[in-house]
Amino acid sequence: MVITYEFTLEPDNNKVITYSYVTRDKCIVIYESRWYHGKKFALEFIVFLLGGIKMIEKVNEIKKEFEKTSSMITDMKTLNDIRIEYLGKQGKVTELSKLMKDVPNEDKKEFGMLVNDVRTIVTNTLDSKKEEIETKELNEKLSKEKIDITLPATSVKCGAPNILEKVVEDMESLFMSMGYDVIEGPEIEEDLYNFELLNLPKGHPARDSQDTFYLEGDKILLRSHTSPVQARVMLEGKGQKPIRMVCPGKTYRRDDDDATHSHQFMQIEGLLIDENVTLADLKGTFDVAAKHLFGEDCVTRFRPSYYPFTEPSVETDISCFSCKGKGCPICKNTGWITISGAGVVNPKVLQMCGYDPKKWHGFAFGFGLERVAMLKYGINDLRAFYLTDLRQNKPFDRKEDK
Ligand code: DAH
Repeated sequence: MVITYEFTLEPDNNKVITYSYVTRDKCIVIYESRWYHGKKFALEFIVFLLGGIKMIEKVNEIKKEFEKTSSMITDMKTLNDIRIEYLGKQGKVTELSKLMKDVPNEDKKEFGMLVNDVRTIVTNTLDSKKEEIETKELNEKLSKEKIDITLPATSVKCGAPNILEKVVEDMESLFMSMGYDVIEGPEIEEDLYNFELLNLPKGHPARDSQDTFYLEGDKILLRSHTSPVQARVMLEGKGQKPIRMVCPGKTYRRDDDDATHSHQFMQIEGLLIDENVTLADLKGTFDVAAKHLFGEDCVTRFRPSYYPFTEPSVETDISCFSCKGKGCPICKNTGWITISGAGVVNPKVLQMCGYDPKKWHGFAFGFGLERVAMLKYGINDLRAFYLTDLRQNKPFDRKEDK
């Protein structure tokens, strides 16, 4: 028996001492010990009996040992440690494959098959263990996380559409069903559209009731009504096509705020231009709108009025929905409630906006939206719409908070 002894110095200063001996049946015992930076770091004692039955025994030994160890795996950490111990870079199975180079040629095939077998067994066992542990952990988690359906639910704040918005949408869909387009106009408007083209020239007394906020000199202002959109739409139509439009939006006036006035409020404007349009068409249209808003038993009437952009002009009234005409505080004991101004479009306006009054006729109307909303929903102070008090919307919430 020859015992060989080797001492090597690795590039990173590790001293390696290897002892080995060769016997007649090619058994080699390797004893390897390492020192790192002078300190003994690891002692690897590997005995590999190569050749014949002894080699198979070694592989089987690792296999048996794994079977024993793997049966004790119950958690992920142990599983990962064992995976590294067997399949890691320096793992037991990996080390076995590295020995292939020392196996005599005639045994290489069998050795290779055996090592592969062990690797497959180790890999499959660890994979199925992993699945087992994961399922177990998930089940444990789920059983801990039981939902108690008898607990009261967390209340969800659902909110509600703004009341004015509700009225706008309601009126828009009504007029759309009658073939009207919904148009938007600018809130910052020119004097030209807000007044001039509506037959309200400078110095016209009717301008007094529509005093507003001026932004630049006396030409640019915050629109005092939605009527300027009439002029814009007519100019766009170039006197060539019939018009059916409604325009909801914000309007402004230099008013002191009180229960029925606000410096900012909303209107919905309507304009219909066609051939052979009369006041009767306006009456019919208003009747449909009033019944839609306040109920089928609502009666309507027109009272003569004055607006420079319509001729004739009317105030449109509905019978009081509260007292049914008998007289009450809502209708100020008159039995009637005024809800809009309207009239037949003044030929002068048609002319200025490019529509030939000999061919085209039209009617227009302007509802105060807050007024409609206040009447419809029993709100008695206009300022409530602009105070951002959410309690205002409470009765209209889709779902009440608990
Ligand atoms: N613009 C008017 C106002 O704010 C309301 C109005 C009256 C609109 C008659 C119209 C109309 O279109 O024909 O007081």
